[in-house]
Amino acid sequence: MKFFIDTANLNEIREAFDLGVLDGVTTNPSLMAKEGIKGDANVRAHYKAICDIVDNNVSAEVIATDFEGMIKEGKELAKIDDKIVVKIPMIKEGIKAIKYFSSEGIRTNCTLVFSPGQAILAAKAGASYLSPFVGRLDDISQDGLEFIAQVRVIYDNYGFGTEILAASVRHTMHLIKCAEIGADVVTCPLNVITGLLNHPLTDSGLAKFLADHKKANA
Ligand code: E4P
Repeated sequence: MKFFIDTANLNEIREAFDLGVLDGVTTNPSLMAKEGIKGDANVRAHYKAICDIVDNNVSAEVIATDFEGMIKEGKELAKIDDKIVVKIPMIKEGIKAIKYFSSEGIRTNCTLVFSPGQAILAAKAGASYLSPFVGRLDDISQDGLEFIAQVRVIYDNYGFGTEILAASVRHTMHLIKCAEIGADVVTCPLNVITGLLNHPLTDSGLAKFLADHKKANA
């Protein structure tokens, strides 16, 4: 299972990478705006800075919503670094763009996916990654994890090569359940990754080991 961090914050990306378990980064226009990154040149420089931290898989989202615009923007993004994955929204023009990039050997991440039908279309178009949004489905009282499980079955039925990148993963149980279901990748904020470290028995056990060692060596 791959771990991607869902942020455009360079310090958080560095911290996750330093932990040694990070396989990539996903960003979106809201996350870029949150870091105050604006203007084409700054956006590109920021993506390059992210690529310089991690080994691979940096999702950079297009803003255009028409086919020609997505192709132009996606090509420019892909030129920044070989690690870039062009992130494209699940709309009609987006499916055409994914098909185009797939035939050009440019990796894509199909984003804003909320239904099995959308998941099938993205896989047939040749998306490298599919981003079903778990938390946003939960937000409207639909079962986000059940959706991941549905897509897993569909993709396995046909041997689709598209990787399921569970997105909008908000807490550690989301991540663990995605692992049980067999999502290929999860993307989540830093606190969800570091949250996996926590267990009170680890803390109390370590405190006891250290206290016993200190006593024995006093
Ligand atoms: C996916 O790539 C999105 O950036 C992200 O996971 C959305 O998460 P949110 O629903 O918590 O904003």
